[in-house]
Amino acid sequence: MEKHLPDAVRAIRWSRDHLVLLDQRLLPRKEEYLHIGNAGETARAIADMVVRGAPAIGIAAAYGVVLAARKRHSQSPSSWYADLHEDLELLANSRPTAVNLSWALRQMRRVAEQTFHAHGDLPPLPALLEAARRIHQRDVQANHVMGALGTELLTEKGAILTHCNTGSLATGGFGTALGVIRTAWSRGLATRIFADETRPWLQGARLTAWELARDGIPVTLLVDSASSWLLRQGEVRWVVVGADRIAANGDVANKIGTYNLALGARQHGVGFMVVAPTSTVDMNLASGAEIPIETRSSDELLGFGGVGVAPGGTQAWNPVFDVTPAELIDAIVTERGVVENPNSASMATLMGRN
Ligand code: MRU
Repeated sequence: MEKHLPDAVRAIRWSRDHLVLLDQRLLPRKEEYLHIGNAGETARAIADMVVRGAPAIGIAAAYGVVLAARKRHSQSPSSWYADLHEDLELLANSRPTAVNLSWALRQMRRVAEQTFHAHGDLPPLPALLEAARRIHQRDVQANHVMGALGTELLTEKGAILTHCNTGSLATGGFGTALGVIRTAWSRGLATRIFADETRPWLQGARLTAWELARDGIPVTLLVDSASSWLLRQGEVRWVVVGADRIAANGDVANKIGTYNLALGARQHGVGFMVVAPTSTVDMNLASGAEIPIETRSSDELLGFGGVGVAPGGTQAWNPVFDVTPAELIDAIVTERGVVENPNSASMATLMGRN
């Protein structure tokens, strides 16, 4: 692990007895932290995008279970575990696409069950808090491993294009695709970093540019629709993105626009790399066709900064993720290793590894 790599931002933190989340809706204008005290507030923070990015959603939900268990135990020490079910459901339904959410909730449910069976009506907080912290720390460790593995694939110097925000804001810290980019930058392999602005929520412009500026890494923004034209210029060697859910055949759901990038990369002979921890892999879904794709409010498209940009009555279609077929992906990088040209067999081998 290269410990000296710049990585100043932390969007999720446990402080004494509550969860603290950096309100990502306000960036880059304001750096404000929300204090979250229960499961309902956690679910709302996820649904409203105070916290976003697949691994970060899972980590926030894990801390949300700690808050829920504390409240349930204070209300009824003998039935806290049964009562927790409602909170787990609430958290699970906060956003549909990123599977890290249900993955983290499964881990937390298991610890809650074990704690209840071992200690009955004693307070469950220490065990659950330790479990949430473990999920958080392991995510950061996985990101460092992936940063190194992904960078090994960059055999020549060149520019990198990324999409959305996959950095410390979207994870426990360091980032997935942005972790590879940080590592490549520090080794002099990334000559320039391009980031799509990422319509309509502007994760690229508002978040990626902000956190890279914090770490002193220069970034060049472009509108999403300029990406194929950029790839045609020949400067970019790799497109490096994250994922919200990876199906058993290697199809990848990620921020809307990722599929366009994969098509453009293939057309122009540019490598296409997906970087995601195995908590993003959903072996229960045979292909990307089964991945639930979130559609958000048309207001995100019809207005900008509170000002309407389309005539009243205009309809909008706002799917916020798309699915890139496995055949367009050159490599999926996980903390367990790299799968080149992913398919069902190579994904099964990866997921069988410890
Ligand atoms: O809608 P968002 O901002 O939660 O979408 C985030 C993404 O699509 C990221 O690319 C993905 O979660 C990977 S983050 C490490």
